[in-house]
Order: sequence, then C-alpha cells, then structure tokens
Amino acid sequence: MKATWLGHSVVKLEGSKTVLIDPFINGNSKCPVKLSELGHIDFVAVTHAHGDHLGDAYTICKMNDATFIGCAELADDAAKHGVKSVGLNIGGSWKCDNVAFNMVNAVHSSPIGCACGYVIYMDGKRVYHAGDTALTMDMKLIGAFFEPDLSFLPIGDKYTMGMLSAIKAVEYTKTKKVIPIHYNTFPGIEAKPDVFKEMVGSRAEVLLVRPGEVYEL
Ligand code: NI
Ligand code: MN
Repeated sequence: MKATWLGHSVVKLEGSKTVLIDPFINGNSKCPVKLSELGHIDFVAVTHAHGDHLGDAYTICKMNDATFIGCAELADDAAKHGVKSVGLNIGGSWKCDNVAFNMVNAVHSSPIGCACGYVIYMDGKRVYHAGDTALTMDMKLIGAFFEPDLSFLPIGDKYTMGMLSAIKAVEYTKTKKVIPIHYNTFPGIEAKPDVFKEMVGSRAEVLLVRPGEVYEL
C-alpha cells in the first residue's frame, strides 16, 4: 500500500482501492496537488466538519462517484448535497470491497455531528488517522485492537494535541510508524517534526515525509 501525506491532515492511501482522508485541497497552502491531479478516488473519509478537514470532500465524491464516509449527521449532510454517503458512529465499522473503516473516538468539536478518527484496514495493513484530537485514554483501545502499522497524528497544538501529547499517543496506540500532521499550515500550529522524531526516539519510527512524497508501506 502507498500512503501519501498531502499537507495538513490530507492523506491518500492507494492499494486495491484508493482512499482519501480529510481532503482540504483548495486553500491548503501545503497541498502540492490540484483537485484535477488527485487521480481516481473510491472512498473519501472525513473526520469532522471543520473546513480544514471536510474541505473539498463533496466535490471530490461527485467527480469520482466516490463514497463519502463520515459520522451519521455529516453523512446525512453529504447525502443532501447529492453525495453517495455512509454514516457511522464511534466504535462502529463498515466494510466495502475488502476495505474496512473503523470509526474511533476523537476529543474535538465539529459543526455537524461529532469528531472522530479512523483505523482503515486495507491489503493487510492498518492505518490510523487521528483527525483533530486531544490525547485520549481511548487511544489505548487502538493499541489493544489494532496496533497500527502507520499512524497519522496531529502535533500542531492549539486546536489538537501538541508534540508532548502525541508522544503519549504513540505509546498508547502501539503504532509502528508515525507521520506527524496538522502543523505549519497556518499561524498558531507551528511545530518542528525533526524535534518530534527525536523525542519519540525508539517508541516508533517517525517518517519525516514532505507533502506529496509517496511512502510505500
Ligand atoms: Ni477541527
Ligand atoms: Mn483542523
């Protein structure tokens, strides 16, 4: 499976299917691609309805006839916009075409429904996308059930956990690899990923990828 961070919280997973998470493309100063350059997308999973996460989700779904995945209320909103959608809630999972979406807790706000994270299972790999969240003890459940091969964790502070909390999140989730996200996109969420890597130390491998750089998992 290929995993590509596209800046901020945008993540593209390419395996037997293509999954896009939190597609904030237009207006994202760190995103190296345009909507027209994303390639075919099968599923768009959104963690919550803040603009820097919901982003261009509805447009991308319509362009690709892709399935939108979000919390129940947000999925209803997507449906009202003419988007094919599936609503889940925290603790639930949904499987389609051998891709499983597990919706997990996030401690954060959302203008529509609730905020969440995802553990996505595809082609034998488990990938955790934390969305926007504080550190939460529920991350221990991710360690107990999933032990992700790769996790995308916010480190920018202010709206999400910062680096110190993210180190605990690495421990709790028992993730093998980490790509830090949600930092340096706009003022107020400055962070130093190289310092984060040093602080995480031997707990997990921190991958310092540039936006758009493809990582083969
Ligand atoms: Ni948010
Ligand atoms: Mn955010």
